[in-house]
Amino acid sequence: MTPTFVHLQDAAAQPAEVLLVFAADAAPSEPGSEPRPELLAADLALRSAAAAVLASGEYKAAQNELVLLHAPAGLAAKRLLLSGLGKQGSADLRKLRRAAGAAVRYSKARGLRSLAAVLPETLAPAAAAARAVVEGAILADWDPDMYKSDRKDGSLEALTLLGGDAAAEQGVREGTAMAQSQNFARTLVHEPGNVLTPTVLGERTAAMCAEVGLACEVYSTAKLEELGMGAFLGVAQGSDEPPALIVIRYEPENVPEGVTLGLVGKAITFDTGGISIKPADGMDKMKYDMAGGAAMLGAMRAIALLKPEVRVLSVICSAENMPSGRAYRPGDVLRAMSGKTIEIINTDAEGRLVLADGLHYAKQLGATHLIDAATLTGAISVALGHHNAGAYASDEESWRKFADGLLVSGEGFWRMPLGEEYLEQMRSQIADLLNAGGRYGGSVTAAMFLKEFAGQTPWIHLDIAGTAW
Ligand code: BES
Ligand code: MN
Ligand code: ZN
Repeated sequence: MTPTFVHLQDAAAQPAEVLLVFAADAAPSEPGSEPRPELLAADLALRSAAAAVLASGEYKAAQNELVLLHAPAGLAAKRLLLSGLGKQGSADLRKLRRAAGAAVRYSKARGLRSLAAVLPETLAPAAAAARAVVEGAILADWDPDMYKSDRKDGSLEALTLLGGDAAAEQGVREGTAMAQSQNFARTLVHEPGNVLTPTVLGERTAAMCAEVGLACEVYSTAKLEELGMGAFLGVAQGSDEPPALIVIRYEPENVPEGVTLGLVGKAITFDTGGISIKPADGMDKMKYDMAGGAAMLGAMRAIALLKPEVRVLSVICSAENMPSGRAYRPGDVLRAMSGKTIEIINTDAEGRLVLADGLHYAKQLGATHLIDAATLTGAISVALGHHNAGAYASDEESWRKFADGLLVSGEGFWRMPLGEEYLEQMRSQIADLLNAGGRYGGSVTAAMFLKEFAGQTPWIHLDIAGTAW
């Protein structure tokens, strides 16, 4: 389903199956009285069709609160669906996105697969609002029931946006590219470990790259050996499934030399912990230990479609972390591609090992700025819970750019500290580094480990273990 944009002010004349209009609660007229739900649309016909239910006191425009009216008076639409954003004063694009998502889930559950949404006029510029509505709708359209035998395709058939100006059309294009790329990543994350092996991840990546016009190479063990990726190889050696080293390049024409963004992703297709094996409870979820890699693949897909004027390359390190007669052991010493030696004290701290080689290789391929994403530590969930991911930045300029991006995207990240003092926890007696720094500050010590391999290159590290699921 690709959303369409109709620049049309007369929403009342729209013969939609479901006409979606957003609402918010205005402040109470006097202290102590109830908040008053209002439409985020000035159209008089819409207002009069919704007037009775809004005045009834039965509907509050709280976030994700919905009400469906049949045969709304004076409208060509068959149904009018109101979706709330909460208090008018604090309504923003993030809430609009959620309200659009709630409306889509509600409609789909009732077999209603064709929606026309009226862009709210006052909340934000039309392009930003259109983008948020389209993102919310397409993200909500995604279903995880891919292996149910009685699966019925209930996905949206049509989404039309009404109102706004010509700029809103660009917002629709951006929102579509972003949300469909996120759904691409989510599909990969939900694939079980027996289906999505490193090899299959490589195949899926190659197909995606062919579809959107990206250059892509997928390597395996021989290439890792040739490059001297001893850390990555150490993790991969315990599995019968060969590893995959995926390299993607986005190279627009006529972009000045000098800056190449390198996106590096951890893609452990299943993390048993290896010889330092994890407890059975919840181990099934460790199929999502490739979510950092999936996020970067989604990002590359969106980049290919949106065509920013900057060179981007991506390095995805994929392996399975298994215990076996060939697995790496606690006490082993590995030599990373950079030459640094690492004493393994816990084979479950495998993500930083594959990333150590991935970050180094991305620099060798020409990355001048690095971002990595990884489901790296349980410790980040202890620190931040499930609503913000941890973000680390090597320098203030990189952080500023990243933080600006957060304002546009509405993503939840919280900046975490770096500091040489944390490396004390990772001193080995016989090698350059230990691969784990103990119980305290577990996400920070992992980040400091990675920093040893990012070196002097401006670098952002995203620990998404608490939010990826
Ligand atoms: N993949 C895990 C991190 C993880 C834990 C992701 C829970 C999602 C949910 C990672 O490879 C890991 O096992 N990290 C260890 C590091 C420790 C051994 C230093 C951890 O967090 O326990
Ligand atoms: Mn692990
Ligand atoms: Zn892991």
